[in-house]
Amino acid sequence: MILTVTLNAALDATWSVDSLRPRTSHRVDDAQERAGGKGINVARVLGGLGHDPVATGLVGGDTGRRILDELNSARLRSEFVEVAGESRRTLAVVSRDDGDATVFNGRGPAVSAAEWQLFHRRYAALAAAARVVVLSGSAPPGLPADAYAQLVRTAAAAGALTVLDTSGPDLLRALGARPDVVKPNAEEIAAATGQADPARAAAALRSLGARTVVASAGADGLHAVTPEGTWRAVPPERLAGNPTGAGDACVAAIAAGLDAGSAWPDILRTAVALSAAAVPCPVAGEVDTTVFRRLLPRVVVEAVPPAPAR
Ligand SMILES: Nc1ncnc2c1ncn2[C@@H]1O[C@H](COP(=O)(O)OP(=O)(O)OP(=O)(O)O)[C@@H](O)[C@H]1O
Ligand SMILES: [Mg+2]
Repeated sequence: MILTVTLNAALDATWSVDSLRPRTSHRVDDAQERAGGKGINVARVLGGLGHDPVATGLVGGDTGRRILDELNSARLRSEFVEVAGESRRTLAVVSRDDGDATVFNGRGPAVSAAEWQLFHRRYAALAAAARVVVLSGSAPPGLPADAYAQLVRTAAAAGALTVLDTSGPDLLRALGARPDVVKPNAEEIAAATGQADPARAAAALRSLGARTVVASAGADGLHAVTPEGTWRAVPPERLAGNPTGAGDACVAAIAAGLDAGSAWPDILRTAVALSAAAVPCPVAGEVDTTVFRRLLPRVVVEAVPPAPAR
């Protein structure tokens, strides 16, 4: 079983307007709402691939209940812990004239020490039944600074593999717990290491404790440094659309590949095709399966010599 963790689940609203102009009023023609947060998006993609993942994390208040209802209607198994605070909302205003989105992200509920302990106990039981644990997204206020490190250690002690997709201090503080895979994008890996070159940046994250680093770089694909070798995997074409959520599809493919015990070149090929197939889809958590099947045999995966850390 694959367990996905969303510590800061959200109710994501998407509003469509003709043309977004600051300081004016707009007519909203289409308003949609669904449960979000990166771990939930990963679970949706896994569900679409025929897996039966379990989504856990923290939700609270009326917004939290709406999130759980929506997961239920999407037929995703959820095991969230409820907190007293109110789950966050996000709003993406999509401007039809240029297709651009303007996004507003709520911060999320403050989580108490007792709530964190309750979650951690529930999580330990779920991780014991999981082969792969996906830890995605930012942490809400109030969690211990080493929250992700704790979750990585608990999963490893339970015998599960961990895939961590977060950024900044959350990422850096978790590395010492030796996550099996981290998946930063180009901006995140540069911010974490001060290195723009993905090969050197990946080597730096490995020297801090990550066993495998899969660095994503938008349409340039993936650079993966693993204990078994280093590879570059590149999509055969640049797709147009909404790249938000491509990283979540990439993480879903990595988790599915680890669950199946696949070899890294195969995991990377699938991850590139699946994440590219998320780009034409307007909302995160969806992939275009026709695009996925069309791209898969044309993804180029090549071994490259590892770069030394500087
Ligand atoms: N325009 C594109 N065309 C083809 N493939 C793409 C494109 N954008 C992204 N991808 C694929 O998706 C993967 C992840 O993209 P990216 O590096 O943008 O992730 P991210 O910034 O973590 O995304 P997210 O918003 O989900 O966090 C890339 O490695 C690539 O395989
Ligand atoms: Mg990302």
